[in-house]
Amino acid sequence: MAEYDAASLVVDRNLALELVRVTEAAALAASRWIGRGDKNSADGAAVDAMRKAFDTVAISGTVVIGEGEMDEAPMLYIGEKIGLGGPEVDIAVDPLEGTSITAKGGPNAIATVALAERGGFLHAPDIYMDKIAIGPGLPEGLVHLDAKPEENLRELARAKKCDIGDLMVCTLDRDRHKEMIAACRKAGARIMLLPDGDVAGVIAVSQAGTGVDIYMGSGGAPEGVLAAAALRCIGGQMQGRLMFEDEEQVSRAREMGVTDPKRIYSIYEMARGNVMFAATGVTGGPMLHGVRRSAAGATTHSIVMRSKSGTVRYIEGHHNFARKPAAFLA
Ligand code: FBP
Repeated sequence: MAEYDAASLVVDRNLALELVRVTEAAALAASRWIGRGDKNSADGAAVDAMRKAFDTVAISGTVVIGEGEMDEAPMLYIGEKIGLGGPEVDIAVDPLEGTSITAKGGPNAIATVALAERGGFLHAPDIYMDKIAIGPGLPEGLVHLDAKPEENLRELARAKKCDIGDLMVCTLDRDRHKEMIAACRKAGARIMLLPDGDVAGVIAVSQAGTGVDIYMGSGGAPEGVLAAAALRCIGGQMQGRLMFEDEEQVSRAREMGVTDPKRIYSIYEMARGNVMFAATGVTGGPMLHGVRRSAAGATTHSIVMRSKSGTVRYIEGHHNFARKPAAFLA
């Protein structure tokens, strides 16, 4: 038994590092499209490269958060089987999180992947999710999705023994957040407005050095599951609630297993059991440097982490274009 455990641990550890190859491949491919004003080509390049890179990973994976339903997406669609064969796992992907920012050469675009045991991820439909997240080491339930922004800020400031004016709120710069932003400002908090990219925005609450204390606001539900997987590894709290716009969305979600449309999901309900998370920067941001390219090669900056050990690794990859298979550089 001890031998079995040791072997499975090695597989587990190696898998986390394999995931970085997958996100590096997507980031390298997307990096050719930075600032070229073509978000679809940037996304397509990332999807293609990530899909190919998965062919070399020793898993029997099922995509549960992906590029869409089978009839909408040619690759990495929900339900697609990927990997060389190996442990049965569920996969959540966003090959290019921040397609518009990549097209504009803006900050914070990443290529990202999370992995869980079978059944570990919430099967989130492609709708909005209301999200709130704070970093590690704070009392459980300190903030709540249903509390007013000023109440959450008051509790957070009390727990962090600081003034509300010391707190930094991160959110997407969207009209739908106007009231929440106004309430935070009225309470005295400072706000970091992101043009796009709320996976990195949520993770920022758990990264010393970003200066972000709390994430509030709505963004993609699939992105919410990826962020929850990351926080399960790095530490922190998060809640999410799916935001349905009509009955059709509710019934589609029911088919995906969502039984209570009003439910507030805890981080453990969005990403259960052992999970792993990896991301590679496409354009630079507070979490990761972007891809730096030259005639000879490219440098990538990635983060990889596992919930089991809590280890967070930053990996700098130096890629030699002369020796690297062209498929990963297309
Ligand atoms: P894309 O990668 O599809 O461009 O998504 C970027 C993003 O900002 C996500 O990070 C976020 O969850 C979502 O879009 C928010 O959607 P919207 O732009 O409709 O507010």
